[in-house]
Parts: sequence; structure tokens; C-alpha cells
Amino acid sequence: MRFLKLFVLLFVIQTQAQQGGMWVPSLLKGMNETEMKDLGMKMSIKEIYDVNNSSLKDAVPHFNGGCTSEVISPKGLILTNHHCGYSQIQSHSTVEKDYLTDGFWAYKMEDELVNENLYVTFIVKIEDVTAAVLEGTATLTNEAEKQAKIQENISTLSRTLPKESWQENKIRTFYEGNQYMLFITETFTDVRLVGAPPTSIGKFGSDTDNWVWPRHTGDFSLFRIYADKNNRPANYSKDNVPYTPKHFLPISLDGVAEDDFTLVFGYPGKTNEYLPSIAIEQIVNELNPAKIEIRDKALKVADGFMRKDNAIKIQYASKYAGIANYWKKWIGETQGLKKSNAIAIKKESEKVFQTKVVKAGKQKEYGSLLSDFEKNYTEIAPYAVARDYFQEVVLRNTELLSVAFKLYQLEQVYKANGEQSFTDRKNNLISSLSGFYKNFNSNLDQNVFEQLIDLYAKKSPKEFLPPSIVNVDATKLASEIYSTSKLKSYTDLKTLLTGDTKTVLANLNNDKAFQLVKELADIYSKEIAPKYDEINLRISALQRTYMKAQLELNKDSRIFPDANSTLRVTYGKVKGYEPKDATVYTPITYLDGVMEKYVPGDYEFDMPSKLIDLYNAKDYGVYAENGKIPVNFIGTNHTTGGNSGSPAIDAKGNLVGLNFDRVWEGTMSDIYYDPSICRNIMVDVRYILFIMDKYAGAQNLIDELKLVHPKKTKALKNKK
Ligand code: ARG
Ligand code: ASP
Repeated sequence: MRFLKLFVLLFVIQTQAQQGGMWVPSLLKGMNETEMKDLGMKMSIKEIYDVNNSSLKDAVPHFNGGCTSEVISPKGLILTNHHCGYSQIQSHSTVEKDYLTDGFWAYKMEDELVNENLYVTFIVKIEDVTAAVLEGTATLTNEAEKQAKIQENISTLSRTLPKESWQENKIRTFYEGNQYMLFITETFTDVRLVGAPPTSIGKFGSDTDNWVWPRHTGDFSLFRIYADKNNRPANYSKDNVPYTPKHFLPISLDGVAEDDFTLVFGYPGKTNEYLPSIAIEQIVNELNPAKIEIRDKALKVADGFMRKDNAIKIQYASKYAGIANYWKKWIGETQGLKKSNAIAIKKESEKVFQTKVVKAGKQKEYGSLLSDFEKNYTEIAPYAVARDYFQEVVLRNTELLSVAFKLYQLEQVYKANGEQSFTDRKNNLISSLSGFYKNFNSNLDQNVFEQLIDLYAKKSPKEFLPPSIVNVDATKLASEIYSTSKLKSYTDLKTLLTGDTKTVLANLNNDKAFQLVKELADIYSKEIAPKYDEINLRISALQRTYMKAQLELNKDSRIFPDANSTLRVTYGKVKGYEPKDATVYTPITYLDGVMEKYVPGDYEFDMPSKLIDLYNAKDYGVYAENGKIPVNFIGTNHTTGGNSGSPAIDAKGNLVGLNFDRVWEGTMSDIYYDPSICRNIMVDVRYILFIMDKYAGAQNLIDELKLVHPKKTKALKNKK
């Protein structure tokens, strides 16, 4: 009976699962194309990706290596998330001109703000180069040698394959090493800030609403790409001109309704959709709980300090958001994996896999894969847990220890490369740490330390604990370290690093924070990391063979490659969902919902008064739908981190939304995509236009756009 239920579940999921997947845009022909048309797409796949003519892909650059953006005007104007442009907006802000709080709008191109170290990358062409990358590797049986040869081939090919002088060749692996693709790219480095709403719009709901539906966030910002006179990439110059794109997205004023086709085009970072069940068990039962508990404690301490002291709140706001983002995601992911029965479903499909292997007579190649996974994952477990503890406690959450670790690395540089490298690195470190100390509060950090060292001692695998923290009195150790360490202040640190190398090293080794980190890091680098890497290399090789087997044995199902920060197409429909018994979520939110959440003066749910005025006056221009302003909507598009800022495109190629998040119940989609509850969250493009036009009065920007009415039979004239 239980089996039957599971079988039905499996069947339902497999038929619905048609809608998951992150596809390579140059390979949509065939089953994807058919499915997209069935879902309502009215374009040809050549309109999405074409090498010889302009296509949608020419409007979708990778934003600063981690987010996605899209070109929305013939003058190189691009749209991305507020949280993707956050550090640029912050870097131009001062107490007098606080663009985070008040927003920023360039009403003339001359007012656009130049950004250091910001770049966007376009894809010119995608090509399969598997054979060339794997050349000369078939006979290599040693995994490490094989990988070294592959790396060598990749670097030779990247250098020698034809491209224009201003372009780059990048080779990336797909299907865990079963396929390699070449990307010819163009990277623009003069990208200027054009517009950003105040944080109370761009980050409305902040951490409380993060990863959650219903959502009401105007998570967008605007930039512009500049090029040289030949429209090619160039570093900043006042002579640069706005970039003329090969394609830019028209913007639909007609909005979306439930069941409308949507396509999300962007650069998903990393997924793990093909893990064996034992790996997921480890994530659910060991790794996620450990990381969640650590961050839980760190966040509680920080929150306590931030609530009492406004200066600390400002110092820690961005760090807090960064730590909270994945803390919250792991909680949702763990719950979702449990609720969706991901492990049981994987186990069932592993049984099916095993039967197929036997049927195909492939026991010799694939018969022991699952038991090998079992063996290696069991073996890696303590190393994986210990690694997470070290990384989370020392490198990520206790700031004094992460500074001490940088100094530990400095000492290692001296041991490995001698005096000159040591001095160079030391000087670099001194200058790079000045920013860190502006936002460092030693009391707060001491409290975090006390909590986390206690956890480390009690919960991380005993065999990797240095004697000094077995049975540690965390309070006592915290006060010993924080009352004496020179790493607490920038001035003391600089003094500590002054003098000849011998003195500096002796001083470092006298510091109690340094001493502790040295003990922990020595164990990490000698006993944890090497063994972890060794087993992990074996697991990667198994994963590659497992993928190969699945591709071979499931010839007529479509298997998409895990995300790897390359350009992908994902598609689906606008759709609500049922998160729990007797609860139904509809797919679109409105400005009325922002008002419902409004808490005057609150740091998460405050609203700008001008927005309230517009709401009260119902001054919505052409952007309203039945007298209401839509804010966010959700769909069945399979997205992940990196898809932030991705365009949501309608059936005909027009922009309808801006991707920025996923729903709480579906955050496990990186490991197991369940189409019944996995949803991506997008800003309705009409909310963006409404804010640009009615809130900011940026008519100059609205005038650049191509506004269209794809749903109305006769194209209406652009609003004026
Ligand atoms: N959860 C989204 C993502 O992973 C949005 C993060 C930014 N928003 C925030 N409140 N921290 O990037
Ligand atoms: N918020 C994520 C991003 O920044 C998107 C996601 O994880 O769904 O890319």
C-alpha cells in the first residue's frame, strides 16, 4: 500500500516534472521546443538563441559574475535586482546623500554614476567542444591525472580557439564532466548606476519576507552599459558612449494572468539535482542542521546588539542579511526535502535505475555505482561535518577568528615562499582590512565567539578537536582572548604587523586569537581538508559515471544539466500553489498588500510617504490593472541563486517581470524540484515602471523604453 502510494506520487511527479529544468539555449530544438509551444509560447526557438541574427540572448548579460541583467533600451539601459546592485548603491552613499535610504535617479546621462569593478558579460556564441577537451584522457585511469589533463586541454583550447581580440573563450563542464561547452563572450567594464528605489521599496520586507510568498518587494535597480566609439568593451572614459545592443527587450504593459507562459533567461549558479539519496540524507540530517544551528546562534547575538544600538545596526545590516539569507534557505530546504519525500522518491528511482542497469546488461560498468556512493558518502561524513564547522565558525561567523585565519595564511606564505611574498601579502592585508574594522564591534563578536566555540567543542567530530578546546569553558576562553588580542583594533593590528619578519611572526604567535586559529587551522589543513578532497574526487568521478549512465539508460527522457553559472532557459507558467492543508496562494500581489504590511518607522516594513500618497490618490497612470497596481507574481520556472535579475519573458518575447527569489516551501529546488510547490518570485514589470514614472518622475528613462501591448489585438501607441 505504501509502495503503491509512492508509485502514484512518483508517476504524478514525473508527468508534472516536465516543467522543471534549466536548459542550454543553443539546444532547445526538439522536446523543449514542443513543450514550450504546448505551454503557450508563440516564438520560434531561433528568436531565443541564434548565432547569426540578433535574438533574446543578446539582451541578457551576466551581471558582475553573480546575478543576471537585461537590456531594455536601444541605449544600453539594463535592469537588475536592487539586491544585485546593492553594493554599488551603497558605495555611492554618504550620510548627506544616502541613496540606500532615499533612492537615486539620474535625470540626465551626465548624472549617471561610474562604478569601479562592475562588469557585465554577453554571450556571443555557444559550441560543444567535448571531444577536444577529452582528447588524450581515455587511457588515463588515475582520476587526478585525468582531471589535470582535462585542465591542460581547456587552457590550451581557450587560448587557441578563434575569437575576436576583444572577446574571451570560456569552457565549462556540463553533466558532471560528460560534456564541455565553449562560450565566446564580451565583457563590458564601464557600467554606470542610473536608478534605484529607496530600500523601503527595493528591499521591502527585508529578512522577514525573504524567501517567502506572498511578497511585496520592488527589488530592482537600473544601470547603463557604456562602450567605445566602435561599440566595443572599454574601460571607463568620459568619451565612452551608451552601448547599442544587438537586441533589447520590449516591455509589455498587459501584465500576466494565471497560466500565462513565462520564460526566465539567466545565469543560475549551482544546483545538485542528481545526488544519490544517501547524499541528500546527509544534507538533511547532518550538514544543514549543523550550519543552521551555528548561524542561528550567531544571528541571535547580532540581532540583540543591533536592536539596542543603531550604530551597530548600520554596521552589521549587510553582514546580517548575508548570513541570514542562506540560514533561512537551509531551513526551508530541509523542510521542503522532508515534506516532498525527496529521499524516498530518490530511493525508489534508484531501484528503477538498478533494474535498468541489469536489463541493459551494464552491471559491469554501472552495477556498483549506488553501493560505491554509499561507501564513499559514509566515509566522507565526519570530514564533511568537520569542514562545515571549521568554515562556518572560523571563516564565516566569528570575525576575529576570520581575521586570525588571514594572518595564519600569511605565516603559511612565509613558510612556503619566503620573505618577499610575506611582505607583499602583509601590505595587501593591511590595506584590505581597513574597511573591515569600520564595521567591527568587538563586544558583539566576543558573544558570538563564546556561543560558537562552545558548539564547536560540543558538536563537531571529537577526533578533530585540538586538546585546548576539549571541555572548554567558552566564557573564560572568550574573555581571555578578547581582553588581550591585538586583532580587535586596526591600530593594534598595524602595530603588530610592524617590524622585521621575525618580530612580526613572534608577535603573531603570542596572540591568543592567532594561537587558537592556528591549532584549528592546522588540524583542518592536515587532517580534514586533504581527506575530504580525496574522497570528494572519488565522489565526483562516481557522479560523472552515474550521470553518463542515466543519460544512456533514459534515452527518451530529457535530462537537464545542473546549473553551472552559464546561460540557461527555464520556462513554465504563472501559477499559485497550496503550501499546506486548506491554504491556497494566488499568484499575484498588489500595492494594497504593501499597505497591509506597512509598519511606520519599522526597518523592514516602512514605506516612503510619496508611495502612500500615490496609493491614496490611486495615481497609477497606465500601469494599473483593474484599478490596482500589481507588485509581484510567481511561476513554475525552475530557478536558483544567480537567476536574480533574470528577465521573465512572455510568449512573444516581451519583458513582463524581473526574477528575484523563490518561495519558502520550494527552496529545496536546488536538490529536488517538485513542480507542485516550487515557484520563482518576480517583480511585475508594471510596478517597476510605476515606480520609475510616478514615484521617481524619471520620464527620461521611460522615454527610452519600448512599451507594447501584446495581448491587445491592435498595437496601441506608447503612452505619452
Ligand atoms: N533570497 C534572495 C536570494 O537568494 C534574495 C536575497 C536578498 N534579500 C534579502 N532580504 N537578503 O538572493
Ligand atoms: N535570490 C536569488 C539570487 O540572488 C535567487 C534565488 O535563489 O532564487 O540569485
